[in-house]
Amino acid sequence: MVCLGNICRSPIAEGLLAAKLPKDTFVVDSAGTGPWHVGKHPDERSIATSLKNGIDISAQRGQLFTPAHLDTFDYIYVMDNSNYSDVMAMAKNEAHKSKVSLILEALFPGEHVDVPDPYYGLQNGFDMVFEMLDEATDVIAKKLLETHG
Ligand code: 4NP
Repeated sequence: MVCLGNICRSPIAEGLLAAKLPKDTFVVDSAGTGPWHVGKHPDERSIATSLKNGIDISAQRGQLFTPAHLDTFDYIYVMDNSNYSDVMAMAKNEAHKSKVSLILEALFPGEHVDVPDPYYGLQNGFDMVFEMLDEATDVIAKKLLETHG
């Protein structure tokens, strides 16, 4: 799960998908394309929104997305088109490129929809982001369980 800061959107996406998949079969992680919040816990608003929906993301720590993640992980879900460009610029081959998708493709295929960045906005932006990511990770978890479960 990749966003810009790795403190608002991708930590929620990580928490949601991890809660929907068996831990002995799947590794779910998140990272940011920007370096500002490396080592920091998620934004308080992401923690609160997740917690009120039964998901504790407070133990997560920010990390930078690196080209090595394109080798290590089988699927890379990015939150917006800007993250998509940044990650695709690190891809060295077709195998890397084919791993990368916009997370909302799971709900709106072919429409290139962004998960809006809630960082500078209000609390309800975090609730909206949580709902979008909850629906998208339902679809993704189902697909992953069918393919690898
Ligand atoms: P995120 O939100 O990409 O959803 O984690 C952001 C958090 C921080 C910044 C940008 C986006 N920032 O510029 O510090």
